[in-house]
Amino acid sequence: MPRFDNQTVLVTGGTGGQGSSHVRAFHAEGANVVIGGIDARRGAALADELGTRARFTRLDVTDENSWSAAVLAAETAFGSLNVLVNNAGVQNPPATIEETDQATWSRILDVNLTGAFLGIKVAAPALRRAGGGVVVNIASIMGLGGTAHYAPYVASKWAVRGLTRTAAVELGRDRIRVNTIHPGVISTPFIHEPAAGASAAIADYYSPEPFAIPRLGEPADVTRLLLFLSSTDASFITGSEYVIDGGLLLGPALQAETA
Ligand SMILES: NC(=O)c1ccc[n+]([C@@H]2O[C@H](COP(=O)([O-])OP(=O)(O)OC[C@H]3O[C@@H](n4cnc5c(N)ncnc54)[C@H](O)[C@@H]3O)[C@@H](O)[C@H]2O)c1
Repeated sequence: MPRFDNQTVLVTGGTGGQGSSHVRAFHAEGANVVIGGIDARRGAALADELGTRARFTRLDVTDENSWSAAVLAAETAFGSLNVLVNNAGVQNPPATIEETDQATWSRILDVNLTGAFLGIKVAAPALRRAGGGVVVNIASIMGLGGTAHYAPYVASKWAVRGLTRTAAVELGRDRIRVNTIHPGVISTPFIHEPAAGASAAIADYYSPEPFAIPRLGEPADVTRLLLFLSSTDASFITGSEYVIDGGLLLGPALQAETA
């Protein structure tokens, strides 16, 4: 039985990578999907492919007016908004803190943190109008520790955790649940296409071979967890954080020496 019949889901950065996996899965489980993003060509193509229960809306998550238009588009097309997935994110070109210019710092914080803040701010009234709902923020395992050369990204993802917890407290009485997912290394353009100035893609930086589950994550791995958290099966879960990293944070598995 589809878990999201008569539900409308807005996924930011929904035009590719993990976002399009989330969009397809929600749609397959009965949801109306609103694909929010800045890549209009890919967004429109995905909406066309999925058909009547899908819309693309141009959404730059750093722009509050853009958010207002996206939430209005969801309610106008489908009558309500029930689930918001703050998935859009950008990484900084690897650089030490001393090498990082303020413009880079601000750009990463704007998309990864302010984008999620604006999303919750603008979507909350719509979720309330729907009688309650769900927000899932996509952070990162980099938001759980320190990673050299990624200070803006790491700081932004740490901050999303505080945002999640605060939103969960503020919105719980309105039947709005807010949770965070921390993906490990997931096979998308994000890790395979080095940011400008990067010497190596994150896929090389975090080669999966030494870890408990020695493969990269797939978008579908994250999607399955996201759908659980967005469903009524998770109705008592709010303000929580879920790591999905194949055991990377556990550290390398011990390798038996062979003679
Ligand atoms: N791939 C990984 O290994 C990994 C690991 C941990 C966390 N994450 C997080 O997962 C999320 C999805 O990343 P992905 O792996 O699919 O990478 P991706 O680069 O394929 O997708 C990121 C998406 O964000 C969109 N985006 C960027 N700036 C935007 C803006 N201002 N407004 C709206 N959309 C914008 C991009 O167009 C793109 O569709 C991000 O938040 C990322 O930080 C990724």
